[in-house]
Amino acid sequence: MTGRGREVYLGSWALALAGLALVLASPAAAQDTAADGVTFARDVAPILQENCQSCHRPGGMGPMPLVTYEDARPFAPLIRDRVENRRMPPWYIEPGIGVQDFKNDISLSDAEIGTILAWVDGGAVLGDVADLPPPLEFDDSLAWKLEDHFGRPPDLVVASPPYTVPAEGLDHWYEPTSYVEGLDEPRWAMATEIRPGDVDSRYVFHHANSALASSAAGKDYDLFPDDSGKLIQPGQRIRWAMHFFPAGRVVEDAHIELGIWLYPPGERPEFEVSHVSWLTDPKPNRTVLQQDSPCWEQPAPVPLDSPECTVETRLTDLVLPPNGLATQQGIHVMPENVRLNSIRGHMHMRGRYQTMEAIYPDGRREVINRINWDHKWHTAHQYADHAAPLLPKGTVLIVTAQYDNTVNNPNNPDPDQWVFFGRRSADEMGHFHMEVTWLGDQDFERLVAEREELVRQVSPNVEDGG
Ligand code: HEC
Repeated sequence: MTGRGREVYLGSWALALAGLALVLASPAAAQDTAADGVTFARDVAPILQENCQSCHRPGGMGPMPLVTYEDARPFAPLIRDRVENRRMPPWYIEPGIGVQDFKNDISLSDAEIGTILAWVDGGAVLGDVADLPPPLEFDDSLAWKLEDHFGRPPDLVVASPPYTVPAEGLDHWYEPTSYVEGLDEPRWAMATEIRPGDVDSRYVFHHANSALASSAAGKDYDLFPDDSGKLIQPGQRIRWAMHFFPAGRVVEDAHIELGIWLYPPGERPEFEVSHVSWLTDPKPNRTVLQQDSPCWEQPAPVPLDSPECTVETRLTDLVLPPNGLATQQGIHVMPENVRLNSIRGHMHMRGRYQTMEAIYPDGRREVINRINWDHKWHTAHQYADHAAPLLPKGTVLIVTAQYDNTVNNPNNPDPDQWVFFGRRSADEMGHFHMEVTWLGDQDFERLVAEREELVRQVSPNVEDGG
């Protein structure tokens, strides 16, 4: 740390940088939000094209198409509800709290929400068909999303072992292993993406994690910060955790693919990103038994009751009475300076939200983000490079998880049940995942100085905390 006190690490930066985000964003057409006169053809269709039809179209993952007026009109009240409550499009960062600049933000602007509400409240009229925008053409081929960004397909593709999903039944979980092939030396990855392996797999694919990347409905790639990457070893093991839904017909050989874009041979990024996963479990003195722990070996080379073999009992004290609430907190002291690159929550059907706040070494405290929870979506929220929180060593991160087993929770399947910790969706749990870059003092000071300089350029009046 320099001797200077800093006003705040995040809040003032986020505010000042909101101006920069505006400059970076493409100028959006002004929306007419007056209740009278809002029509589908002129005002609403462009919003649906831009923000909904990637999923809500024939063959898309959304439950119904929202392409034509005839498609959308019967759903007007439901659209109103989902849009007003910010449940659609699926983007669950609470607006107005903490950092708001993300690379993969798919939320509607307040003006767009206003237009949709005014349209429904004004009778959901069609308007003049001459105002309709030309229909979008959808490319149903399985292009890699990051191909546009890099101008080339991934350098490596790893396919999951195939799995046959029956026509009917409940969720299928499949957790096989693959190995990276085609590398003769370690190489640095700059991005990863997961996609269904073929068109049929798309129908049953719900979400998947791999040891390198994670994907879920609504989010499928990890673009590391410009200065960062992940080291990939030849033959590296990839552990998959896949979730398929039966979709009314048998899908043979369903599989997914992990695409990896590499830095050129011999080139390495300045920093390596790491994945950190925390439980919001308040119990101290319990450690997770790592996958490579000697305790897994048979016979174990160390006594099974030795401290390194302590198996975390994982939130077993999570008890939600019928119609009750529960709150848990996890407290984690940063062992090094750190930049948060992305954050992802994890809860089940009674989860309402997870709030992450920081107490800085000088005692100041601020909320970094609140992630509202819907079990159907597992988005990793990727901070924009200019907004990724920089936290000095010794910062205390507090994650507060709120569970709601009452009728007020729209995802609650049955408020009259007792709910305990467990893996099934009807049980409960809370994790918090972050992709981070650990930083030595010199690198941290430099990144903080660069950030302060950026803030001064965008907003010269912001105090620099001197
Ligand atoms: C990333 C894909 C995606 C995008 C983008 C998206 N949706 Fe959805 N939508 C879904 C999926 C999947 C569901 C069903 C699961 C759920 O409710 O979360 C859904 C559910 C809905 C529902 C509830 C349907 C029901 O019968 O319960 C409405 C209404 C809706 N979306 C409207 C919209 C609107 C309006 C937009 C754009 C402003 C939008 N969605 C953007 C994927 C998407």
